[in-house]
Amino acid sequence: MSKTYKIAVLPGDGTGPEVVAEGLKVLDAAAEKFSFATEKTSFDWGGDRYLATNNVLPDDAGETLKQFDSVFLGAIGHPDVKPGILEKGILLKLRFELDQYINLRPVKLYPGVETPLAGKTPEDIDYVVVRENTGGIYTGVGGNTMKGTENEVAVQSMVYNHMQVERCIRFAFEQAMKRNSKENPWRGLSKQDIADGRIGQLTLCGKTNVLTFVFDLWERVFYEVAENFPRIKTDYCHVDATCMWMVKNPEWFDVIVTCNIFGDIITDLGAMTQGGMGIAAGGNINPEGVSMFEPIGGSAPKYTGMGVINPLAAVGAVAMMLDFLGETEAAEAIEKSVAFVTSQKLKSMAAGKMGYSTSEVGDLVIENL
Ligand code: IPM
Ligand code: MN
Repeated sequence: MSKTYKIAVLPGDGTGPEVVAEGLKVLDAAAEKFSFATEKTSFDWGGDRYLATNNVLPDDAGETLKQFDSVFLGAIGHPDVKPGILEKGILLKLRFELDQYINLRPVKLYPGVETPLAGKTPEDIDYVVVRENTGGIYTGVGGNTMKGTENEVAVQSMVYNHMQVERCIRFAFEQAMKRNSKENPWRGLSKQDIADGRIGQLTLCGKTNVLTFVFDLWERVFYEVAENFPRIKTDYCHVDATCMWMVKNPEWFDVIVTCNIFGDIITDLGAMTQGGMGIAAGGNINPEGVSMFEPIGGSAPKYTGMGVINPLAAVGAVAMMLDFLGETEAAEAIEKSVAFVTSQKLKSMAAGKMGYSTSEVGDLVIENL
């Protein structure tokens, strides 16, 4: 008997609904082809609902979503709502309530996609960032005193406990194992690494030279956990240097693990190197619970309703979702079709420059599935 997956759909704001529609079209086509079923329920959480009701998110939103197998999110962010309200009130709140402690962001240059990195090819830009997603500066204590005076003090601290760091690093090592195999080890390994039995590499991205408390903890835990993964080569890079190498030598990376704020920053850089926000997908993962998949870009309000936004990031998010649900074949087929579409069809990844409309791009993915 075929499986039925219950999917919560959060189209959100701006161009979110348009890219979600294409993602769902591809999901339906994949379901038919690979014999599984989906049951979708849509929620109107976002800027328009907030402006109409003055309520950001129902109190039981987290509990509601826990009834689903997965969540598919478009984009959150509305031009008429002050920055921070919807981001913190919806996106971050759901990540925290569902304990989606990993943000998994592949940085992958698809064939035919233009990268600003001169001379780099899809061979060179193909790694994943494992961003800690529920701690650090995003949830650390903070506040201010004497606001508005010369003596104002503002604090927002990076707080991590051992458990948070450990589970994130463990997930990252597991990713490195999952991405690579003895038959197909990571391309960046040396002959000696392979002779030593290595199959992949995990880079800890930190700032041990300045954040000597928090990254001392990360570093110790990293090498402790590494002992359980002898097949994965360990590597360390400060976050500033990571940015440098992501531009100059992206082929040096296989899997990168880092804290919440560094991961936020470096994955926007990574997205640009893979052709921009139109193609970058990510997953907010709770390996033991309900995960939420999204295009990592924003709501791009200026393109709303024009049918010009690139839906491939949303399509990629659907592929990631299917992979996590265990529909590996369907996920791979979508990935392959996206690669075909980028290499043979689209003129550009940028909104309005694809040579096709948003829904035509969705159709192309389906035709080549
Ligand atoms: C992201 C976004 C969010 C973040 C914002 C919208 C709160 O930039 O998903 O990367 O900082 O995590
Ligand atoms: Mn971000």
